[in-house]
Amino acid sequence: METKKFDQADLAKAAKLIQEGELIAFPTETVYGLGADALNEVAVKKVYAAKGRPSDNPLIVHVANASSVSELVAEVPPVAEKLMTAFWPGPLTMIFKAKSGVFAPTVTAGLTSVAIRMPDNQSTLQLIQQAGTPLVGPSANTSGRPSPTSAEHVYHDLAGKIAGIIDDGVTGVGLESTVVDITEPDQPVILRPGAVTKQELEAIIGKPVAYDQHLVTDKEAPKAPGMKYKHYAPAEPVILVKGTDISKWREAIAYFQEQGEKVGILANLELITKLKSEVTEVFSLGLKTNIKDASHNLYAGLRFFEKTEVTMILAEAYDINDNNQAYMNRIEKSSGKKYF
Ligand code: TXA
Ligand code: MG
Repeated sequence: METKKFDQADLAKAAKLIQEGELIAFPTETVYGLGADALNEVAVKKVYAAKGRPSDNPLIVHVANASSVSELVAEVPPVAEKLMTAFWPGPLTMIFKAKSGVFAPTVTAGLTSVAIRMPDNQSTLQLIQQAGTPLVGPSANTSGRPSPTSAEHVYHDLAGKIAGIIDDGVTGVGLESTVVDITEPDQPVILRPGAVTKQELEAIIGKPVAYDQHLVTDKEAPKAPGMKYKHYAPAEPVILVKGTDISKWREAIAYFQEQGEKVGILANLELITKLKSEVTEVFSLGLKTNIKDASHNLYAGLRFFEKTEVTMILAEAYDINDNNQAYMNRIEKSSGKKYF
């Protein structure tokens, strides 16, 4: 199958392909999503096949406006209304109690709940409107790999497997949306950290929001099924180095080079400027340690090293706190939590 590249002017063509049950990758403010008609079972099954995604990992449904949600789920609790008003369109996915018979069965992978979000990207909101149907949208990468933050990343993973890609440049946030479970409205739980933080959610809801235990301890089975799989991993192993102590970085570089590794460094510009001449390749996460820049650049960085001769990546890790949760969650999974 030829994978066509679309831009703003071609949205009607892309919408028509969605109606015909084809797959179209779309831009969002977080990462690119792999779009299909959420009411069409055959189309949704193609999404799992194209990504190589395990069938027990449910998909997020993308809508073009908050008012449509009440028809799509069993109930919209007041807490959901508040969060939609505060954060939509934007990087927040909410898990609602599902209404039976609405979506294609494989969307929810057999669960009695459904994930919904309204992305903040004009082309994609228009695509959903013109297609006239909500779209499933898992990240548009091969399952297990870093999510795509540009149309090129999508093309690299899925060319030949999907009908088209809507190119809207590099995404802003760079990490997937925050997923919050509000099926028990009195006890909202963050299943996946993202750009919308626990503090920001609590400020709107006016009561404490918990992190799902597995995010903290890894001991229980995760409630977001997707979190149990290998995730966000580039071709080369990733080892984390915490902080910016230059002697610690030099020690790590020497340790791996002695074992014959060609080392790549993924860290802030100040650090890589000092270490550049000592390693094979470097990629900057941003001017200096800044969590927004690091999140924006993380996946592009992980994918960059695949095009080099680097055999392992040393990546900058931070303290785990409310602001750093999303970045640390992803980079710890990329590395299998391996620290130097
Ligand atoms: O930012 C994003 O959310 C991107 C863009 C494209 O919108 N999408 C995305 O989708 O990250 P995906 O499929 O890669 O991740 C969806 C996550 C998975 O961890 C999945 O297990 C979880 O949401 N999820 C989906 N439905 C769920 C449900 N009913 N209950 C619990 N977790 C659910
Ligand atoms: Mg994903």
